Amino acid sequence: MPHQLCNDHAKPGSATAVADRIPRVPRGAAVLATAVLLLLGSMAAPLPLHAQERFSLYVPSPQSVAEAMAKMAGVGKSDVVVDLGSGDGRIVTTAARLHGARGFGVDINPELVDLASSIAKKSGVGDRVTFIQQNVFDADLRKATVVNIYLFPELMRMLRPKLLNELQPGTRIVSHDFNFGTWEPDEQLTFFAPDKFGGAGADARISLWIVPAKIHGYWNWSLPVGGRVVNYASIVEQRFQVGEGIVRVGNRRGLFTDLKLRGEQVSFGLRITIDPGVLVTHEFRGTVKGDSIEGTVRVTPDGGKAADLPWRAARTSGTTYFQPTGLAVK
Ligand SMILES: C[S@@+](CC[C@H](N)C(=O)[O-])C[C@H]1O[C@@H](n2cnc3c(N)ncnc32)[C@H](O)[C@@H]1O
Repeated sequence: MPHQLCNDHAKPGSATAVADRIPRVPRGAAVLATAVLLLLGSMAAPLPLHAQERFSLYVPSPQSVAEAMAKMAGVGKSDVVVDLGSGDGRIVTTAARLHGARGFGVDINPELVDLASSIAKKSGVGDRVTFIQQNVFDADLRKATVVNIYLFPELMRMLRPKLLNELQPGTRIVSHDFNFGTWEPDEQLTFFAPDKFGGAGADARISLWIVPAKIHGYWNWSLPVGGRVVNYASIVEQRFQVGEGIVRVGNRRGLFTDLKLRGEQVSFGLRITIDPGVLVTHEFRGTVKGDSIEGTVRVTPDGGKAADLPWRAARTSGTTYFQPTGLAVK
């Protein structure tokens, strides 16, 4: 150890001795380093901590629940089914055995991973499913089309951002008993499972979420209405599978109604006056693909005939929504 890092007055092993072994940095440099760290800390978004520990006890889902979860997700041959915290592997093995799916499970407990692999082999699906010893936070979810979870609510809530960021829109997530906080399920079913808790029998609640496409932001489009091209500039705020939106059409502004997402599918309504003064009802339906939406809109002028028009919206980096209309509210 270099001589200059030792403190001759401190007892070996004491806190002072340990502290004194830390290299001394010139005062000015230390202040600058602290300032840089503080600046970086204030710029960086808070990162979720990867907890390297077992967060949920091992309690297997009853077989009746494993089958009901696969049915609720509509599992089929083309699916890649994942179980986060896979226990003895019954969720993935059931999906492969009954529905021909492929998939994998991750569990932090190596003994359960071995058990799941051997059960899958004995069930004749060893070539289609794998089990990995891994923390759920480290699982690679890019290929998943169905994700199953039976974990304590705190862990589900902590997994929520990972699932929303890494899963493709349209991926189905099915849970047993627990939920994702304020992210409401798209479907839910409660039933009596006689095989729950080792045959004691209890209610089981299974829930389904469809990962929504991301539509938060500015969207523009044009439509031929009343014999001329009309421009729409909208601003959409999204909260999971529902949203709100406002839109500027000419010098009028309006609100979207009932904005909903189911995977990539988006729908909402709008009633707005379009110059020269006709109140027009719009029913939008489309598919979100990254920065574009393609679909149709049913346009019905008050007292007129409905027309179905193609609808193509593009996400933009800015909006004309806030430009002055030339009209003042009196
Ligand atoms: C309630 S059991 C569910 C087992 C299985 N999914 C089922 O439904 O039968 C929860 C499982 O999650 C595992 N687990 C707990 N914390 C974990 C973590 N941080 N990463 C991976 N697995 C975890 C446990 O070892 C346990 O097997």
